[in-house]
Amino acid sequence: MTKHYITFRDLSLDEYNHIFSRTKKLKAERHRGQYLRPHLGGRSVGLIFSKPSTRTRVSFNCAVSELGGMPIAMNVSETQFVRGEPISHSARVFSRYLAGLVIRTYHESELRGLAQYATIPIVNALTNEQHPCQVMADVFTFLEILDGKPLENQQVAWVGDGHNMANTWLEAAAVFGFGLKLACPEGYDPDPVILKNAINDNPKVKLIRSPAEAVAGANAVNTDCFVSMDQEAEAKKRLADFKDYQVTSEIMAKTAPGAIFMHCLPAHPGEEATDEVMESPASVIFDQAENRLHAQKALLEYLIPPL
Ligand code: CP
Ligand code: NVA
Repeated sequence: MTKHYITFRDLSLDEYNHIFSRTKKLKAERHRGQYLRPHLGGRSVGLIFSKPSTRTRVSFNCAVSELGGMPIAMNVSETQFVRGEPISHSARVFSRYLAGLVIRTYHESELRGLAQYATIPIVNALTNEQHPCQVMADVFTFLEILDGKPLENQQVAWVGDGHNMANTWLEAAAVFGFGLKLACPEGYDPDPVILKNAINDNPKVKLIRSPAEAVAGANAVNTDCFVSMDQEAEAKKRLADFKDYQVTSEIMAKTAPGAIFMHCLPAHPGEEATDEVMESPASVIFDQAENRLHAQKALLEYLIPPL
């Protein structure tokens, strides 16, 4: 049975534990200069982007190459998707060539449509609803810092927009059991179904309005840009609505000792967080970016069976 990774909850806690132990090993090997693994054995993985990308594009290209495969990156505008080829056809065509398909697009429903017909794993490289590959790397980053301390005792704060990243952190809290307080301005709440399910599974998940309350005693503070891809037309209103949601040094001062600052990037320093916070010793933003590569190697290795 083909395994897809479309939402964070598509993998269980056991599966994440397995992937994270492989991530740790692959990271250590790469840091020793051992880049190549023969896992893919020359097979190709497609990477389709309907939106801009720096980290996801480069880290997946590196991940596929370093696993002994060939990445085929495409802008959606260069494919027959834009001329209306049915998803049911595209999914079966890609399955004849590729060992996996990583796709950044607008709606999860497009990924589900592909998954219905594909016989290769479909991996979500960001949709309006979720960004599971990012949060997988983020949770791994947090675990590295915790260095054996239990994740379920940790308190995570989300400050800002209840968009794709917040939704995915909600699913991560449900899977891993850590506390999560989200401070989102009115009108920018996370997906109500994802929120309800996360609260059902983890009573330590709470949606509030006050950033100061969300970060009080937190071990990690997380944010995202205030204007996501394709929200540029709403930029002026959004920046005004989020004006009290900037992560500043004063906000970070309310956290628990040793708390970290997290951001998936790309960031807009001076909007969602100050440059001072992003450049502070508490900031782990570039570790998060690096871990995308290691975690995605482990993910592809898990989803695509060896030859
Ligand atoms: N964090 C992230 O997904 O970055 P890109 O948009 O650059 O891929
Ligand atoms: N919320 C952001 C995440 C970018 C990685 C966006 O969708 O643009």
